[in-house]
This record gives sequence, structure tokens and C-alpha cells, in this order.
Amino acid sequence: MCVVEEKRINLQPVPLADEDWQYVKKRTLDEYDAADWAIWSSQRQQYFEQNKCDQVLRILECQKDDLSYIYTINNYYHCLQTATRMLRADCTEEDVVVGLLHDIGFITCNETHGAFAAALMRPYISERNYWMLMHHAVFQQFHCHDLPGCDRHARDRWRGHPHFEWTAEFVAKYDQNTISYDEEILPLDVFKPMVSRILSREPSLQYDQPL
Ligand SMILES: [Fe+2]
Ligand SMILES: [Fe+2]
Repeated sequence: MCVVEEKRINLQPVPLADEDWQYVKKRTLDEYDAADWAIWSSQRQQYFEQNKCDQVLRILECQKDDLSYIYTINNYYHCLQTATRMLRADCTEEDVVVGLLHDIGFITCNETHGAFAAALMRPYISERNYWMLMHHAVFQQFHCHDLPGCDRHARDRWRGHPHFEWTAEFVAKYDQNTISYDEEILPLDVFKPMVSRILSREPSLQYDQPL
């Protein structure tokens, strides 16, 4: 118990992001009144607009210097190489951004990293890309020859689905083959304005897909 006490953080108020904003220093949300919620709504919306893109990209950027476990590039450069190839192939801006972020959670939640990226992007992307993100890891198994325990044809359960072909194409052209250091990889700065534009879209959860 004493050790915990010694380690207590002595925090000062975190500075506001805008000099014209104000704190509401009430200690519980139960105490917030209508005037407080009006401040909350205004400042929160601006804050999210200003920070969302940067924070998403920081999740990717923090992987830049990670070591590799087998490939000649790490997950950060894999994502960049995927996006680079898609840009060179004249894919749409949404497709390029989805490619850039498709493995953003690959290390932190590997088993569910497709769903992680899909949930992140869902309000801003088509159902086609949402479905692709959700299922791309299973589709990638098709390219894993001689991998013990791997069902290469696991994707066949979705054959005939409207987004089957796009998901198979994404994995074949832009995912399973973007693991080498000696191919063109454009820097993240190239893609930042694209990510910003996609994340600035009006959020929508209109299509019927489970989160
Ligand atoms: Fe993946
Ligand atoms: Fe990938």
C-alpha cells in the first residue's frame, strides 16, 4: 500500500486545446447542467475534428521502428506498401485509405485485427470495404500454401457474396505480396490528406452489418 502511495501521480489540470475554451470543473457528470452540456457539445465536436485523424495515424506511426518477426519489413511499412500499390493502381481514395489502415491493429489484436480496422473505419466507408476489412484475414489463408493447420479454402464459405471478388482481389494484389523492403514505399505524409478527407466524411452507420 505504501509503495502505491509513493507512486501517485501529482497531476495538474491538462491544458485545454484552444485558448478560447473553458473547463467545467464539476467532479461528476451527474452535476452537469444544460449550460455545461452546451459547452461540452461545442468543444467536443471541434476537438474530435482536430484530433481524430492525427490520433488514428499515431496508432500506425508508433509502429514505425518496430522490429520484424520474419518479413523484411514491419507492419508499418507493410501498410504503407499496400497503400502505395493501391495509389499506383489508381484505386479510389477510400480504397487507398482502407488499404493503409487494414492492418493497423495487426500486432495489438491479431486474431481480430480485421474487425478492429472495420470498426475504426465503418462510419466513413462503403459496406464493400467494411466487409473486405472484416474478412481479409480469412481470405489471406488462400495464399498460405503448406502452412500446417491452415484451411486455404476457408474463404469459399462466402463464395457468391457481393464482396467476395473485391476481398479476394485486395488480398491477392495488395496484401499477400506487400512484404518486401526493396519495393517502392511512399511516406505516410503522402497519405495523410487522404486519411483526413475520408475521416472528415459525415459519419454513417446506415448499412446492416454487425460491429
Ligand atoms: Fe491483415
Ligand atoms: Fe496486411
